[in-house]
Amino acid sequence: MKYQILFTPFKVGQVTIKNRFCMAPMGNSIGFGAKGEFSQNGVDYYVERAKGGVGLIFTGALITDMQVDPFSPVEGLSPLYSPMNFRRTAIALNERVHSYGTKIFPQITMGLGRNYPGLYAPSELPVFFDPNQKSPALTKDEIKKKIDAMVQAAALMKASDFDGVEVHAMHWGYLLDQFALAITNHRTDEYGGSLENRLRAAKEIVEGIKQVCGSSFPVTMRLGLKSYIKGLFHASLTGEDEAGRTLEEGVEICKLLESYGYDALNVDAGMYDSFYYAAPPMYQPKGFTLELAKAAKKAVHIPILAGGSRIDDPDMCAKAIEEGKADAIVIGRALLADSQLPKKIESGQIEDIRPCIGCNACMNRAFTTGDALCAVNPTVLREGVYGLNKTVESKKIVVVGGGLAGMEAARVAKMRGHDISLYEKSDKLGGNLVPGAKHSFKADMQRLIEWYQHELKKLQVPVHLNTGLDADAIKKMNPDVVFLAVGSTPVMLGFKGNDDPRVISCIDALLGKKKVGQRVVIVGGGQVGCEMAYEYAKEGKTVTLVEALDAVLSTGPAVPIMNKMMLNDLLDFHKVKVYTGYTLSSVDKNGVVIKSTKDTPESIEIAADSVIISVGFKPVPTMAKDLYGSGFEVYEMGDGSKVGNVMSAVGDAYEIARSV
Ligand SMILES: Cc1cc2nc3c(=O)[nH]c(=O)nc-3n(C[C@H](O)[C@H](O)[C@H](O)COP(=O)(O)O)c2cc1C
Ligand code: SF4
Repeated sequence: MKYQILFTPFKVGQVTIKNRFCMAPMGNSIGFGAKGEFSQNGVDYYVERAKGGVGLIFTGALITDMQVDPFSPVEGLSPLYSPMNFRRTAIALNERVHSYGTKIFPQITMGLGRNYPGLYAPSELPVFFDPNQKSPALTKDEIKKKIDAMVQAAALMKASDFDGVEVHAMHWGYLLDQFALAITNHRTDEYGGSLENRLRAAKEIVEGIKQVCGSSFPVTMRLGLKSYIKGLFHASLTGEDEAGRTLEEGVEICKLLESYGYDALNVDAGMYDSFYYAAPPMYQPKGFTLELAKAAKKAVHIPILAGGSRIDDPDMCAKAIEEGKADAIVIGRALLADSQLPKKIESGQIEDIRPCIGCNACMNRAFTTGDALCAVNPTVLREGVYGLNKTVESKKIVVVGGGLAGMEAARVAKMRGHDISLYEKSDKLGGNLVPGAKHSFKADMQRLIEWYQHELKKLQVPVHLNTGLDADAIKKMNPDVVFLAVGSTPVMLGFKGNDDPRVISCIDALLGKKKVGQRVVIVGGGQVGCEMAYEYAKEGKTVTLVEALDAVLSTGPAVPIMNKMMLNDLLDFHKVKVYTGYTLSSVDKNGVVIKSTKDTPESIEIAADSVIISVGFKPVPTMAKDLYGSGFEVYEMGDGSKVGNVMSAVGDAYEIARSV
């Protein structure tokens, strides 16, 4: 087998893990019931990944503290709130997970600290999500209470048949990280000052757990090996001028944690303040944490479990193990996108793996609604209730449009046993994903298109390319159901000079239909415009970005904070000139004239070889009204119904096709 090394066992303490794949902790709130127990959704979520072949599951963080700051903005109540309820559901979860030979460690947290308002921190600190607020400093007595809660929770975990426990977390700037980092720990007692003092809470936690649960009960630590910050609230794009944890200090911490009794380290990087290192978007290179892990691996004897950088490539995983960079690979979002990833690698079905596209919509959901849904996999955290059933009555379904929504609807309906034909007026499948995938950093978007092509082929869905359908043609086919997934087109602006040959739409520019010159003005600072600005500036072009609103990335579907932070820093780094509060006035032989949106009549002239219009998309005119009353069901979906994003297109299509 090509990836044999990934399917060899290893040990965490005395516990044997069957292969080298760990599921990263990914917290949510719908995985819990009203008393802090696992909900059926929570159980199904983990069982599905055990079934998918992962060797070790880390659950999302469970809060422990019931006294000092029991409030958690994301997860449910502490398991200690109703231990019997928790234990009952945990045992049921563990029995099912263990049936697949998978081990499971719950992740227990000491707290989230200054990342959120209203929570305690080691010192008084500005809150990440609301810098006007300050997190109060913990007293020594409160620290002891929090450590005690961690130990009590670990004892409950052991009594609930978990295989070990993970301590959350000296990473992402959470409470234990705030203790460990000099920049956030200004204490003068034994919990502040020297590195050993700053790690004292982590030491007391593992010692307490080992005392109560026995030395053979494995304890791991989630640890960020490097912070990537220039200061609080300021990420360091290049990793230089580190104001948080340097890799050297990260390695020192590994050695100390090993000496305290931790059995393995689950390593990654970044803080909320450098969020694009913590939850890397598609602009980050995959696997960048493996080099950090290598340094940790050299320094300690306990296993290093490495993740946190969108690792999903089996070659990369196998190489990391072979080269001794890590003992196991910790996979997060790629296991949301495809719960069966390890099994598919094991059976050589690499093409069947649905790729994570690094959009971070899951993180956005986790922060806003707590349900961590995935843009490309609508079943996440609803595995037991939102799957597919075979239809009792096979219907003849015509799908109009081969973009994302059309492909997903065709895939789902065909899997359910319907008779599907898909019609696409262009010569390829993918719709607006095709230009969207052109950027150098959008390889996974291209993989997603290829995955759909592969799935439709496997399912033998007849795909008719270069075939536009009008209402009459559809009526002649006499279908039972029509899915209209006709997509969207770029909005073009009316302005003086809009017929100038230098003016092009973002789609034509991305598809290379017209050459983009050296001096580029991009009108529209949404995600599409910003990504183009970054790409062209990276290529060495002189790029100006013009946005009518007061900030870029402030319109259209919400751009997750990590992606937004990184794009802004990339635009800055690559010296893109950004004008906010300006609109395009005219294009003439001298270049582009932009006008302030404020009351002042100020206008600026910018020399340009190309002017790219990227001010949004509008639905392609629908033919739904021409089809109503024809005796068949008509559903509109995707951008053709309402311009959205990958999550809304796939979500709409899945919802409709699973129930028709
Ligand atoms: C929805 C979501 C929830 C997360 N919750 C946790 C958590 O509870 N504890 C934790 O240590 N990391 C958490 N993470 C971070 C992941 O464990 C992982 O480090 C991150 O997704 C980057 O790894 P990846 O690139 O493989 O996805 C979460 C990530 C996501 C996407
Ligand atoms: S929502 Fe986006 S980033 Fe998150 S798992 Fe799904 S595809 Fe990946």
